[in-house]
Amino acid sequence: MFLQFLLLLLALPFCTPAETITPTQPLRDGDVLVSKGARFALGFFSPSNSSHRYVGLWYYSISTTVVWVLNRDDPINDTSGVLSINTRGNLVLYRRDSLIWSTNVSVSSVNNTIAQLLDTGNLVLIQNDGKRVVWQGFDYPTDTMLPYMKLGLDRRTGLNRFLTSWKSQGDPGTGEYSHKMGVSGSPQMFFRKGFQPLWRTDPWNGLGWASVPEVDSGSIFNTTFLNNTDEVSVVYNVMQPSVLSRLTADSDGFLQFYTAQKSDSKWVAFWFAPAERCDTYGRCGPNGNCNLITADFFECTCLAGFEPKSARDWSLADGSQGCVRIHGSSVCRSGEGFIKMAHMKVPDTSAARVDTSLSLEECREECLNNCNCSAYTRASVSGSGCLSWYGDLMDTRVLSVGGQDLFLRVDAITLGIYFSRH
Ligand SMILES: *[C@@H]1O[C@H](CO)[C@@H](O)[C@H](O)[C@H]1NC(C)=O
Ligand SMILES: *[C@@H]1O[C@H](CO)[C@@H](O)[C@H](O)[C@H]1NC(C)=O
Ligand SMILES: *[C@@H]1O[C@H](CO)[C@@H](O)[C@H](O)[C@H]1NC(C)=O
Ligand SMILES: *[C@@H]1O[C@H](CO)[C@@H](O)[C@H](O)[C@H]1NC(C)=O
Ligand SMILES: *[C@@H]1O[C@H](CO)[C@@H](O)[C@H](O)[C@H]1NC(C)=O
Ligand SMILES: *[C@@H]1O[C@H](CO)[C@@H](O)[C@H](O)[C@H]1NC(C)=O
Ligand SMILES: *[C@@H]1O[C@H](CO)[C@@H](O)[C@H](O)[C@H]1NC(C)=O
Repeated sequence: MFLQFLLLLLALPFCTPAETITPTQPLRDGDVLVSKGARFALGFFSPSNSSHRYVGLWYYSISTTVVWVLNRDDPINDTSGVLSINTRGNLVLYRRDSLIWSTNVSVSSVNNTIAQLLDTGNLVLIQNDGKRVVWQGFDYPTDTMLPYMKLGLDRRTGLNRFLTSWKSQGDPGTGEYSHKMGVSGSPQMFFRKGFQPLWRTDPWNGLGWASVPEVDSGSIFNTTFLNNTDEVSVVYNVMQPSVLSRLTADSDGFLQFYTAQKSDSKWVAFWFAPAERCDTYGRCGPNGNCNLITADFFECTCLAGFEPKSARDWSLADGSQGCVRIHGSSVCRSGEGFIKMAHMKVPDTSAARVDTSLSLEECREECLNNCNCSAYTRASVSGSGCLSWYGDLMDTRVLSVGGQDLFLRVDAITLGIYFSRH
């Protein structure tokens, strides 16, 4: 791989790299496309220890890290690959006479269809002299989110863009780790192994995620979260153009955010998840609370009014079974109420209800009047809106910085104890 990149780079000074593929100018194995500002390059590569050929994208100055792969599950076994535009105006990848990969768009006039590598790293297929983008690589992310790349659901087309890890460092094929927008309830991002969640953000609070304070660090990042009738999505960019960055779902099972200075081209791991015990999804089971700040050796406690489901597991520092309401207690028209928990990463909101029209006081009323309602909070930091949970509370934890107030439904006795202390 390194040799191939070396050869590729050596070849560069002798020809002017193109930024487009046209019907008459295909991209052959050995050629590279370079975006106009020379921020990104696209060409054929082989991963380490592999002889398979793939079309990949990399930051022009860091050619050893591939950030997008066109044919991840359809490798080519020799160097005869050609990426071109066919007579129907589709972008196609051929190995000799066999079709390996193709876009599937209908095109009116073939003559003026081109594929262009933009300076964002987005490979776009454009029709009618640049007037209409009919396909874009950013709609099909592989394992890496780049600045200006959107993750999340387009509610109009049903397209949900998410990251999937490589199978291994030597195989870019679709692996088992994913990072995807969860759109039910109040939207959150989920990092999973197969179907099993490993880590989640909390819901976007209007400014950021309480559980990822790094995103909120103003001058470096600009993250935009949208939720409306058209889409629920997240996009980020880094304010200084001299900083390169990527968020990668890597094949070792971590979601990692890297940055590099354009000048020295070395990746620095800026942030990753899951990073500590309480990051692990559902560490303390249903109705458990994960707290590393006050923990001595076991990070799990039960939420107020609950007791361990299995006292034995709990005593062995296994919180996975979680907690149940204290035997004999009632939270239904028996003098129950709410206690405030500060600095929380709120429970999983996949099944939570959202009502943006309610005030916090109305939210409390609604919750109190439904015996199944177990907790509520504000839907956004601006103060308005109601987020409420019914049944078990999953993946609740205390954060060391920031976090949100969570109002937890408790029985009369627990409420009495709480008020005697506050
Ligand atoms: C490549 O193969 C060598 C020798 O088999 C091995 O030591 C190395 O870990 C492999 N590298 C990757 C990235 O798989
Ligand atoms: C390469 O793949 C093609 C099918 O795409 C197959 O027919 C051919 O035998 C393969 N060649 C080698 C050397 O594996
Ligand atoms: C291509 O698109 C057409 C129309 O949208 C659809 O009927 C067909 O199944 C698609 N083919 C592939 C290979 O995705
Ligand atoms: C496409 O280009 C060919 C040759 O340049 C020309 O003969 C043909 O009329 C063009 N077709 C359209 C639809 O522009
Ligand atoms: C942040 O991003 C949004 C949308 O991507 C953009 O409209 C806004 O101008 C950006 N803000 C700054 C300070 O760059
Ligand atoms: C997200 O947007 C949808 C559609 O507009 C809306 O029904 C839902 O309440 C919104 N969710 C949140 C958490 O704001
Ligand atoms: C509460 O939950 C139970 C069992 O899930 C259900 O039968 C009942 O209708 C729910 N009550 C309300 C008011 O939602």
